[in-house]
Amino acid sequence: MSALRFSTRFNPMLSNRFFIQTNSLLFSFSSPLSPSLKIPSKSFRCSFNSLLHSNGGTSRSFSNSSPISGLEDELVGYIFGKKKATEVAHLVWRHVLHKGDVVIDATCGNGHDTVAMLKMVADESGRGCVYGMDIQTEALENTSSLLDETVTQKEKELVKLFPICHSRMDEVLPENTAVRLVAFNLGYLPGGDKGIITTSKTTLLALETAKKMLMSGGLISLVVYVGHPGGREELETVEGFASGLCVDDWICCKFQMLNRPLAPLLVFIFKR
Ligand SMILES: C[S@@+](CC[C@H](N)C(=O)[O-])C[C@H]1O[C@@H](n2cnc3c(N)ncnc32)[C@H](O)[C@@H]1O
Repeated sequence: MSALRFSTRFNPMLSNRFFIQTNSLLFSFSSPLSPSLKIPSKSFRCSFNSLLHSNGGTSRSFSNSSPISGLEDELVGYIFGKKKATEVAHLVWRHVLHKGDVVIDATCGNGHDTVAMLKMVADESGRGCVYGMDIQTEALENTSSLLDETVTQKEKELVKLFPICHSRMDEVLPENTAVRLVAFNLGYLPGGDKGIITTSKTTLLALETAKKMLMSGGLISLVVYVGHPGGREELETVEGFASGLCVDDWICCKFQMLNRPLAPLLVFIFKR
């Protein structure tokens, strides 16, 4: 996996440089010494494109030069703590999704991700579909309530909720459905029982299933938490899965704050 490691070794008092690190390369950028931490986005854009091209040739299924070109400002927001990991994930989804797409929320929780992806895929003629799942009925009830509060009845009808483990996601979709996004927001239900968490074993099974179901040009998106017992092991499982994917067919990257060891991480697995 080409790990795009963002080191926030940017200290406006001491230095006007910050760094982006891949497996083997370290890029350093100049930035004006300003209190607003303004980054020269032009140089940032060039760098992201070249990083992704160096990860295995040209893209076949993405219309842009890279699946994340145009997202530089959001990524800078994440680096400097102005955007939450989930917000960055949503922005990447928006970049990949089209109206009418079929998507999977593999961990519904309180429904925020379900609502976000529904808004991106639902169109006026009633196309688009979100398959959502969670092992806790409390989570599915919360998701259903949030949908009632935030979307129309017509939009809600495009969501199908299932009380199952995400390793069984293939059982609830019609065979050969073209799936554009499978999203995981791992860990425990916020506000719920912190003892009920996603586990390495079933997360890996779900990733293997998602890999088979994803269409070309699709994305497996993961927000990974490492602050709870088992979280770091689960991250290693996700990294091991992504690292083993063929570079000709997949683009895999990780966003991690090196000096905030408990901050959530983002893993994006793009299918070319
Ligand atoms: C961090 S929460 C998800 C947050 C949610 N996406 C949101 O927007 O509010 C993680 C959820 O994963 C669920 N979960 C745990 N193991 C699971 C499994 N094997 N299959 C499906 N869901 C699971 C938990 O019950 C919990 O609700």
